[in-house]
Amino acid sequence: MVELTQLPAWQTLWEHFVEAKQLHMRDLFASDPQRAERYALEVGGLFLDYSKNRITDSTLRGLMALAREAGLPARIKAMFRGDKINSTEQRAVLHVALRNRTNSPIMVDGEDVMPKVNSVLERMGKFAHAVRSGEWLGYTNQPITDIVNIGIGGSDLGPLMVCRALKPFAHPRLNMHFVSNVDGAQLKETLKKVHSETTLFVVESKTFTTQETLTNALTARDWFVHRARDEKAVAKHFVAVSTNQKAVADFGIDPSNMFEFWDWVGGRYSLWSAIGLPIMLYLGEENFTELLNGAHIMDQHFSNAPFEQNMPVLLAMIGIWYINFYGGGSHVITPYDQYLHHFPAFIQQLDMESNGKQTTLAGKAVEVETAPIIWGETGINGQHAFFQLLHQGTHISPIDLIASLTNCSSLPGHHEILLANVFAQAEAFMRGKTEQEARAELTQQGWQGEALEALVPHKVFNGNRPSNMLLMDLLNPRNLGSLIALYEHKIFVQGVIWQINSFDQWGVELGKQLAKTIQAELLGQPLSPEHDSSTRHLIELYRQANQRGCT
Ligand code: F6P
Repeated sequence: MVELTQLPAWQTLWEHFVEAKQLHMRDLFASDPQRAERYALEVGGLFLDYSKNRITDSTLRGLMALAREAGLPARIKAMFRGDKINSTEQRAVLHVALRNRTNSPIMVDGEDVMPKVNSVLERMGKFAHAVRSGEWLGYTNQPITDIVNIGIGGSDLGPLMVCRALKPFAHPRLNMHFVSNVDGAQLKETLKKVHSETTLFVVESKTFTTQETLTNALTARDWFVHRARDEKAVAKHFVAVSTNQKAVADFGIDPSNMFEFWDWVGGRYSLWSAIGLPIMLYLGEENFTELLNGAHIMDQHFSNAPFEQNMPVLLAMIGIWYINFYGGGSHVITPYDQYLHHFPAFIQQLDMESNGKQTTLAGKAVEVETAPIIWGETGINGQHAFFQLLHQGTHISPIDLIASLTNCSSLPGHHEILLANVFAQAEAFMRGKTEQEARAELTQQGWQGEALEALVPHKVFNGNRPSNMLLMDLLNPRNLGSLIALYEHKIFVQGVIWQINSFDQWGVELGKQLAKTIQAELLGQPLSPEHDSSTRHLIELYRQANQRGCT
């Protein structure tokens, strides 16, 4: 494999960058009245306006050439075909199979995975129907009113984000709770809100070895058995989702209450699998299917559309332009939609755990920056918090602005304010305010002389700050499915360009290993001589504090 920095398109892009970095988007818009129209794209229910980026036709040509030279067409085919592209774990990467609505065969180790996928979906559907209809009864013969999902990372963030995003579609009897943190506060506060007789616990863990999840699940089980006074009642109130049947059985959950998935589903890509069970319970089978349909629309688009009109490829390559050429190592996600409150955190795991890598597939150190730092918050709140930095700070942080067009709020006036703000922010980021404009505005307000001149520099906005506008008609299951799949594929494309494996996560291991030793030391075992002086001191502080107790 030719190294990224040796590819001809990479060199050409650097030559182009020397000129391109002088351009201002204001001028690009002024010189091309068709720019907004030309740099826009619609896929399913998603509309992308990428015109407010520091790009020209030459930039896009160069970026698409780079995608081709980096072997993207073959890598896309390999993923959809079920090749073991997760090379460090020798696994296929097939979240696309989970939403393969055409059911065309996808082979892993000589076996078509689609029958397994469909059979688990069917079991999930039956179970969800039983719970939602009130047919599934708790140990005192009452229907379920509360579902507590216990899981962390990919076994939490996806279901959490989707359930919160699609709350208006939820079953009116069901309340959905999520417990991920091993800090007992989260479980304690959740258990205060639910009753053992009407609560279903869904324990989700791909490996079923994750300490946080197993600790929370054990505590929840004890809490439950203490109230039900009958071990057998657990079967009505605990189900598990995992790839590890043995560990589920060892934990004490009847394997008939287990929903399986497979090692070719990455944790952060797993909401489409049985990990989506809480989504199906809360929103119903039909809405879950719509979520899958939406993702499938994006999958088909991604695998078939020419790169120049391919939404994930465009977003990914424009991202590469900023990360690797402008040196902008941060990317902001701002939904202008309260229901998408958890979307930035979900994308943060998806992107940073996938592409936060420093070693290429060939085992060499990468020569370029990889994953950006993903952060964000609902847009309107962000405006009153961190947008100052985005407008006048010294970083380049491209921003994705996400909103729904149709006003579905029963509260008059709110949606217009929301949408006016998202459009205004994109315009402000692009256009900025020149010194001349700032001076004219202040003069009109009555400022003059020294006071005027002192204030002018502070009122200048350079503009030329990139943003992508992603719009949906409505935030519904289908559009959300497409939106999530869009980001999944964008991240995959960037991983291909950087020649890294986006589907392992060895970087999370070291901390886990060290925590095991330290946990024993907190409980009184002698300190390991291998600790540095800072870690030893921290452990001592813990011991002293716990001798004093909580009073
Ligand atoms: O530690 C990171 C991680 O392995 C994530 O990749 C994963 O989503 C999360 O932990 C939870 O893992 P599991 O589903 O196996 O409990």
